[in-house]
Amino acid sequence: MQYGYFDKDNREYVITNPRAPVKWINYIGTRDFGGFVDHTGGALICKDDPTFNRITKYLQQMPSSDFKGETLFLRIHEEKGLRVFSPFFVPTLDPFQRFECHVGLGYTRIVSEFYGLRTEATIFVPRDGTCELRDIRITNLTEAPLTVDAVPVIEYTHPNALLQFTNADWAPQTMQSKAVQDEDYTILIQYPFMFRDTKINYFTSNLPASSFETDRKRFLGENEYGTFRMPHSLQEAELSNTEALRGDNIAALLHHLGTLQPGETHRLITQLGQAHDLDAAHDEIRRFRQPEALEEELTKIEAFWSDYLAALQVETPDEDMNQMLNVHNPHQCYVTKTWSRYLSYYQLGLGSRGIGMRDSSQDLLAVMASVPEEGKEFLQTLLSFQKRDGSAMHQFNPLTLEGSEGDSLEMEDRPHYYSDDHLWTILATTAYLKETGDLAFLKETIPFYNKDKQGAPLESGTVLEHLKRGLAFTRDSVGQHGLPLLGFADWNDTVNLPTGAESLFTANLYGKALLEIIALMEHLGDEPGVEEYRTAYEEMKARVEASAWDGEWYVRYFDEDGNPVGSAKNTYNQISLNGQTWPVISGFASPDRARQAMEAVYGKLNTKFGIKVSTPGFDGYDPKYGGVTTYPPGTKENSGIFLHPNPWAMIAETILGNGDRAYEYYVQINPVAKNDIAEIYECEPYVYAQNILGDEHPQFGLGRNSWLSGTASWCYQAATQWILGMRPEYAGLRIDPCIPSAWDGFTATRRFRGQTFHITVHNPGHVCKGVGKISLDGETVPGNLIPADLPGAEHRVEVWLED
Ligand code: GLC
Repeated sequence: MQYGYFDKDNREYVITNPRAPVKWINYIGTRDFGGFVDHTGGALICKDDPTFNRITKYLQQMPSSDFKGETLFLRIHEEKGLRVFSPFFVPTLDPFQRFECHVGLGYTRIVSEFYGLRTEATIFVPRDGTCELRDIRITNLTEAPLTVDAVPVIEYTHPNALLQFTNADWAPQTMQSKAVQDEDYTILIQYPFMFRDTKINYFTSNLPASSFETDRKRFLGENEYGTFRMPHSLQEAELSNTEALRGDNIAALLHHLGTLQPGETHRLITQLGQAHDLDAAHDEIRRFRQPEALEEELTKIEAFWSDYLAALQVETPDEDMNQMLNVHNPHQCYVTKTWSRYLSYYQLGLGSRGIGMRDSSQDLLAVMASVPEEGKEFLQTLLSFQKRDGSAMHQFNPLTLEGSEGDSLEMEDRPHYYSDDHLWTILATTAYLKETGDLAFLKETIPFYNKDKQGAPLESGTVLEHLKRGLAFTRDSVGQHGLPLLGFADWNDTVNLPTGAESLFTANLYGKALLEIIALMEHLGDEPGVEEYRTAYEEMKARVEASAWDGEWYVRYFDEDGNPVGSAKNTYNQISLNGQTWPVISGFASPDRARQAMEAVYGKLNTKFGIKVSTPGFDGYDPKYGGVTTYPPGTKENSGIFLHPNPWAMIAETILGNGDRAYEYYVQINPVAKNDIAEIYECEPYVYAQNILGDEHPQFGLGRNSWLSGTASWCYQAATQWILGMRPEYAGLRIDPCIPSAWDGFTATRRFRGQTFHITVHNPGHVCKGVGKISLDGETVPGNLIPADLPGAEHRVEVWLED
């Protein structure tokens, strides 16, 4: 069953049935000011941080029919009385003639028709702005004049989002609102008492309001036995003009739009913002009362996205793949880069997560071609959360910049560090260097996280020094097989074996990081460096190969007693996906073992909805393993289809030259294909989810935790860098596709170091991999590397694949 369709020309997904299985969302603004809007116009908005400066009250767990954060009510004056409804469907749930929610790049537009009124509401945050704008056009589609009122409503939360839920006396006693007249317009101001002199939320519009409400109790009526579905106050001619002194604060403005003649449109613009005080907000408030200013801002958003997407556009024989790679996947990558795993319909932004070291480092890998400057700035921040010993803080709050060791603090007797965090930043940093060629970055000085009592950093080091310390930490933290100690966890947060356990994942990630550093040292001409890291690489490779082969596949961990986990000897978790893909990615696996390991993945872990992360699932809580045993078999990391490691299987298959298998893995998790089975899958078909229930669970195929997942970054990389094979390197752009043999080829336009390459790949012999010949602007070039820094702005590259 479908709930909407892809509109390729407008780069949108359009939801046409508002009763989607769960709220489908879109992001507006940035972390500086923004949040998400759901497909029925509800919105969770914050400034700088969803934990400490949240503006709207949005309760993800409440039923989809509930009011969440914001809505708009319309009233038609009819002979029988006032007809009140929401053009966003929720919360009044009226029958509609038309409903469309256009999920766009940086905006959401809801177009609906109820009772002969068409409403078109475009919801967005201006670039660099600190307010959410709603540009609402209301048109009379009937043959008769209609008298219409419009009442937009916001519900506020205490800015300390968690406190809002932990104290129902103190928090509401602090909340206050007042109304200010600004010429003909009403501005509703809201603040918790202690912030009155430092920050205010404001809500206003471009039309005179005849009355307002800021007290939820009065708005709903009858001591709140009135509901958002039928607020009693909306049956009155006017709202009560109450300035709330405490309690649940809302902002509602009643506008009499007057009589709309047949075909006539009226336009209402609302603004929800935050500023130090009203003076500071005044210019922005006045500017956005002008409709032209909104058009300008929408043009800027469009320009940003056009430039962002111009970094790479592809045309392959697979329309669903094009759809993802040209619009929705890069969009999701930018959203994950912005929000890490902090704020979504599933990640509640209540303080426990903030920005993740491991997650954000991986997110960065997919945005470097589009926004390298933002990538560099983010890297500077991430590296400042690395400690002097080379390991890293697991996460930090973006507002307070306070680091934390994450969930590892939960278990006293387990190590308080993650064994992988610091290694991911090596991959992110070298990705930036390869994309931009900006080697000067290596010399920039960045403090380590350790601080003295006054909060000053104890030591700083160059970016290169940071990378080296990370490698040294892993080199020196090894267990009984000489493999890296697990720490509290590696990539898999939920396997928390007792102290002394070793991680094969971290061993391989270390191997991959070493390959990156070796390539960097070679490029820098640092012979001793090359030597040192090659030796480290060979040492770890020998240990992995000596200890980790289980007979038909690789094991995943050794526990504190040296017993394997992820082995045929185990009852649960006999084989793990990451255990197989990463020895291929690190280059540690011999060709034979690599092939066998990846065949075991296909045979034992693959399902029609994606590859399971391991099997069989643990069937009961076992404190030895920790988190993974807290949920039933088939869910999340416990033998669920955890999507983030799926693209690693695609990459591993391309390394082995098997483009058909890599593509099969790509297609089976492409969310576009879920559009037809939305009733099973439930999540948005325009972004990747974090996990899908596996075949060990009765609800096999159900997606969960959409948007904020490393799946976005890695699927983008797997598809563009490994299947389509365009990989930035220090000396140029490597073209090394590994595509399905059925393809005749594909074309791509790739921006690289300020130049644009128009690439055509021909596959006359229907092979998966192997570049026979490349011509650059008509001249044959040796090998398959397009050199960086060619003269000229545009280049034509033709590639012929050959066995
Ligand atoms: C979640 C976390 C990520 C972790 C993964 C596997 O996606 O955000 O950091 O690697 O789960 O446990």
